[in-house]
Amino acid sequence: MESAKSIDELQNFNFEIKKIFDDAQDFLPIMGTDYIELYVGNAKQSAHYYKTAFGFQSEAYAGLETGKKDIASYVLKQGKIRLVLTTSLEKGSIINEHIDNHGDGVKVIALHVEDATKAFNETVKRGAKPYLEPTKEEDENGSVIKSGIYTYGETVHLFIERKNYSGVFLPGYSKWESHYNPKDIGLKYIDHVVGNVDWDEMNIWCKFYQEVMGFAQIISFDDKDISTEFTALMSKVMSNGNGRIKFPINEPADGIKKSQIEEYLDFYNGPGVQHLALATDNIAETVTEMKNRGVEFLYVPETYYDDLLDRVGEIDEDLSTLKEHGILIDRDEEGYLLQIFTKPILDRPTMFFEIIQRKGAQSFGKGNFKALFSAIEREQKNRGTL
Ligand code: FE2
Repeated sequence: MESAKSIDELQNFNFEIKKIFDDAQDFLPIMGTDYIELYVGNAKQSAHYYKTAFGFQSEAYAGLETGKKDIASYVLKQGKIRLVLTTSLEKGSIINEHIDNHGDGVKVIALHVEDATKAFNETVKRGAKPYLEPTKEEDENGSVIKSGIYTYGETVHLFIERKNYSGVFLPGYSKWESHYNPKDIGLKYIDHVVGNVDWDEMNIWCKFYQEVMGFAQIISFDDKDISTEFTALMSKVMSNGNGRIKFPINEPADGIKKSQIEEYLDFYNGPGVQHLALATDNIAETVTEMKNRGVEFLYVPETYYDDLLDRVGEIDEDLSTLKEHGILIDRDEEGYLLQIFTKPILDRPTMFFEIIQRKGAQSFGKGNFKALFSAIEREQKNRGTL
């Protein structure tokens, strides 16, 4: 973020953003994230992991017992967050091909819209590659209209219109009653979803979100902002008009050694979702629960905390608690935020999770980006992929 903008420049800049947002509200109003769907090798066991380790609750199920012949799919819920874990029951399916290419990973970032047909037509008109033509699905609980477009890599956005549906999730899914119900851990909503894209592609995808979906860029970090002794990367954060959807996009930058974005691209075999950030109202409690349930977090050196209060100013939390857990603190113009990052949750060093608590800050600070990337670099060294 540049700090030396004049007031006139800032006002102009804000006006431009407001205009983009206002236009976007007209052609693609998004109410929020509807769900995130991962294609996984074994959905039954993945569901058990997300229930046990992350405190997700059993919500809905589709599979052989509900009349599906080719997939099994588990829907988990916590706060407003819906995760869908889907696996293939057939040899040679598209889902298996996805898993072969990428390992377990996010296939669908589904967005809740008022009108899925309009969302499809407006985005395709502006250059989106179609994934799913508007399709009506129905059962005894009403009907849902779904449509979809491609974004980076093989990842897609589905638009979900569910105002005429009262079932538990989507047509074809039944309520999932389980006798195993670990307590939730205070996760509330999806704060942001980060994509890693290829060399020189960050601006292409930011332009896609701007022109096709009407998002605006709220932050930009270049390789000088986010570099360590060995590696570098660049990042821009795109947001929709109501701020409920934030999609940071990263690309690798030149450094002496291989950056973590390249490591991701190698193991995922192309662009894809790098992390999901889940919001809590009490990060220390949430993280304590996750640690007790076996989730591993990135290590943050104690020196990170030495000059912390000089950088971020007064905070409500007890510094020693934050230090004990390795929770990062950063600030923007409006307030501060607390963040922590898990290690990759898969065997391939690809996807991980962030837990975030916002205390006024609506965007991101660059100090934490750098701390995150230094921490990942230490892990890469252990993996021999730096
Ligand atoms: Fe993040």
